[in-house]
Amino acid sequence: MGTIILGTGSWLPRRVMSNVELEEMVDTTDEWIRTRTGIENRRIAGAGEKTYQLAAKAARKALATAQLSAEEIELIVVGTISSHMLMPSCACYVQHEIGAVNAQAYDINAACSGFLYGIDIADHHIQARKEAKVLIIGAEAISSRLNWQDRNTCILFGDGAGAAVFGYSEDARRGVLGSSHGTDGSQWELLYMHTAPSTNADIEVAGNKGAFLVMEGKEIFKFAVKAMEEAVFRVLDDTGVSLADVSLLIPHQANMRILSKLLERLAVPREKVFLNVMNYGNTSAASIPIALDEANRAGRLKADDTILFCSVGGGLTWGATLIRW
Ligand code: ACO
Repeated sequence: MGTIILGTGSWLPRRVMSNVELEEMVDTTDEWIRTRTGIENRRIAGAGEKTYQLAAKAARKALATAQLSAEEIELIVVGTISSHMLMPSCACYVQHEIGAVNAQAYDINAACSGFLYGIDIADHHIQARKEAKVLIIGAEAISSRLNWQDRNTCILFGDGAGAAVFGYSEDARRGVLGSSHGTDGSQWELLYMHTAPSTNADIEVAGNKGAFLVMEGKEIFKFAVKAMEEAVFRVLDDTGVSLADVSLLIPHQANMRILSKLLERLAVPREKVFLNVMNYGNTSAASIPIALDEANRAGRLKADDTILFCSVGGGLTWGATLIRW
């Protein structure tokens, strides 16, 4: 009686921005970015590529893979921190764009953990209503929320979208096996983004820097490695699955140094890890579903495989999810 993935899809903006291009914009070098982060290129959204447009294209591909029509979807959840509007949600735009006329739709803000939190929502929804088909999307045009004068952050991120359609299987061995998520709001200042200045002076946030991403890189690095490691061991413990039994680890593609440290701590060999951070940078909530779709299309997910996901992001939020394909 599992919540299974019926189809995956992803979509990347056309424009590729290389490290060399960034050399023209901030005081940095291709060599610094490669050695510190492993990132070589990222995609940057352009005309016709707002967050919901990327999301809708990824969703259509996921629906096609699942051989479902948009009308069959009853819930759409988009994890995003970079929709072009505060209201309506990105999910409402997606609902209209793909013609999911029978769906309710809303966004969640769990930053880079949005897709894994979304899987939890899909799982609970489907366990309560077995006939439901649920679309979970991670989508970002985070280039619109970066300070392009800040070399500490603008080199790390990229735009894109990934989606998965969830449904129900009578086969109890398949689907979501478990998850372990956490939040620590006390550490919000390590990674945050203001909104536009408040029109109510009494509740304006002191020192509002504007609606772009601010980060304490070193602290985030330490936190990210520890939080993902602990979440991974917790979900393995809870489900009685050993790390040796995991067929593929699909981590949040934050940056190569965080991932290298994590893999070292977990003692997972590189061939059991799906990595595409070099091509796209950190696409926040979109990173795991893009990687999931690429792994799926590359034939790296086989029946009975045990797939492990882990993430960490602004909030601070983190989590790990285990799925049997
Ligand atoms: N180009 C050149 N030099 C740079 C750049 C850059 N783009 N950015 C920083 N520097 C400089 C710094 O100013 C500093 O110079 P100084 O010594 O003269 O002061 C020097 O490089 C070293 O800076 P550090 O911050 O110590 O660099 P570090 O080796 O820690 O690497 C990095 C920075 C890559 C950001 C690292 O801290 C990290 O990986 N942090 C995690 C951040 C992250 O991935 N966040 C994503 C969002 S959260 C998530 O998704 C998990």
